[in-house]
Order: sequence, then C-alpha cells, then structure tokens
Amino acid sequence: MIFLNGHFMPIEKACISVLDRGFIFGDGVYEVIPVYSHKPFRLMEHLHRLQHSLDGIRLKNPYTNKEWHDLLEQIIAKNKGEDQSVYLHITRGVAKRDHAFPDTPPTVFIMSNPLLPPPQEWLTNGVAAITASDNRWIRCDIKSISLLPNVLLRQIAVDAGAIETILIRDGFLTEGSASNIFVVRDQVLLTPPKSHLMLPGITYDVTLELAAASNTIHEVREITENELFSAEEVMLTSSTREIMAITRLNDQSVGNGKPGPKFRQLHQLYQQYKA
Ligand code: PDD
Repeated sequence: MIFLNGHFMPIEKACISVLDRGFIFGDGVYEVIPVYSHKPFRLMEHLHRLQHSLDGIRLKNPYTNKEWHDLLEQIIAKNKGEDQSVYLHITRGVAKRDHAFPDTPPTVFIMSNPLLPPPQEWLTNGVAAITASDNRWIRCDIKSISLLPNVLLRQIAVDAGAIETILIRDGFLTEGSASNIFVVRDQVLLTPPKSHLMLPGITYDVTLELAAASNTIHEVREITENELFSAEEVMLTSSTREIMAITRLNDQSVGNGKPGPKFRQLHQLYQQYKA
C-alpha cells in the first residue's frame, strides 16, 4: 500500500496528473528512511533534513513532524517486512506548465519496499567503485528529486561492473552518486565536511558518532583525489546500503583488496546500533 495525497491505496491504483511539477520539472524533494523492526531509524534527523530540503526549494512542509510520524507508522503497518525502506516524495503540485511557482497544493507520495540486506559476497569481499567528475549543480545539500546527473553518474559505474561512482570536484572528493564516502589514511578515518556540495547523510552522521563512541581516530576534512587513490580503506554509507567497503577503485585494489579493519569495526557497530 502507498499513500498519495491523503489516501492509502494499492500502488496500481495510484495516479498523478501528467502536469505534476515533479513530472514536468523534477520540482520536488524526497527522503529515504530505513525501518528496522518496524521502527523508522533516525526519523527526527530525516524529518529535519526534509525540512532543510523543503526550505531550499521554498515549499511549505505539508505536515507537522507528528503527522509525518503517524503517516509513516501507518505505511509501515500496511506493508510487509520488519525492515523496510520508506520513500517519501513531495512535489510542488499540479499546474499549467509555467516555470514560476503555482498556487496549488503539493503532491505527497509515500511508498515502502522491503529493506533487503546486501549480498553476503559484498560484505565479505567489498565492492567496486569508479571515480568521475562531479558535474551536478551546487545545491547537492538539497535532496532534490531532479536526479538526472546522479542517474547518469551511477550508470557509468554499473556499465563498468562497479556499484558506485565516487565524485570528484575541483580535485576534491565530494560523495558518491547516492552515498557518502569515508577513507582511512594512516589509520585515521576521514570524510569531507558537510557543505552545499554534498548531501548531509544520516548514515554519515551515525558513522561519525560510532567512530567517536569507539575512540576511533577520525577527522572531518577535505580529501584530495590523490588521497582517495592512496587510501588504506574506502567505504560508502547510505540508508539503504548502510556501510560498505569499497575494495576496488577504477580497477585497482584499495589497500590489500579486502575489507579493512576500520570497515569491519564500524560495520559491526552499526549492526549493533540499529538493532
Ligand atoms: N540516497 N549522498 C547522496 C547523493 C544520496 O543520494 C544519499 C542517499 C546519500 C546518503 O544519505 P543517507 O545516509 O541519509 O541515506 C548521500 C538515498 C538512499 C537514495 O537516493 O536512494
């Protein structure tokens, strides 16, 4: 079951107008919220980021946090699986095509899919990634539904037999096409600082908190492309992939080509934390 504009219905029954500004302009924002054991993970943080995205595109939040909470509880109860991935999407509504903002109610859509654990092989051996130039706009802190650059960047990875594209802007690492990136150098965990050039990841925050709580030496600072290539470990974080080790980068091994000790530690801490 999905939620669309005030009603729950089977996804097959859900219809929106071809004039929806999400369809016409990609004019909207979204969130992806993991659900563990029927409970949304870090809900307040996701709702806070949603507000930041809505403010960024000057769209009024249609619901209070309490209303979002109630809606999510209902969607989770109406869908199968203890672990789910809830997708929440708000557009500027339906109006005659004109770039300027219309005076119409927003479209609100929520769906939930089972949140499946990554293949065991990925955890044991790590995954491959490639690098590409970050050619997106400069408000990457807004979780915009206009994802064409991210879609194109991800596909380059898939075409190369990898699972993620790590983005480089002006010689510095920003993030992945749908993830944040951490590296380990001289046994220090490093990740770039939040800015308008990357999405402030919820899993990114959790990872830094877990590092702090476990006395893992870490530093939030700019990372150059060269530092990425000579890192001992590289990892990605996201709500749907949690923490994954990247063991091949542009067809070269990262470190010894196996998931490293910092990854194993953080991955285990994350599993305990989310439970
Ligand atoms: N994407 N950066 C980008 C560009 C992302 O799209 C995502 C997540 C992240 C990680 O953020 P978080 O830890 O809050 O999931 C970073 C989601 C999962 C998606 O688009 O499906």
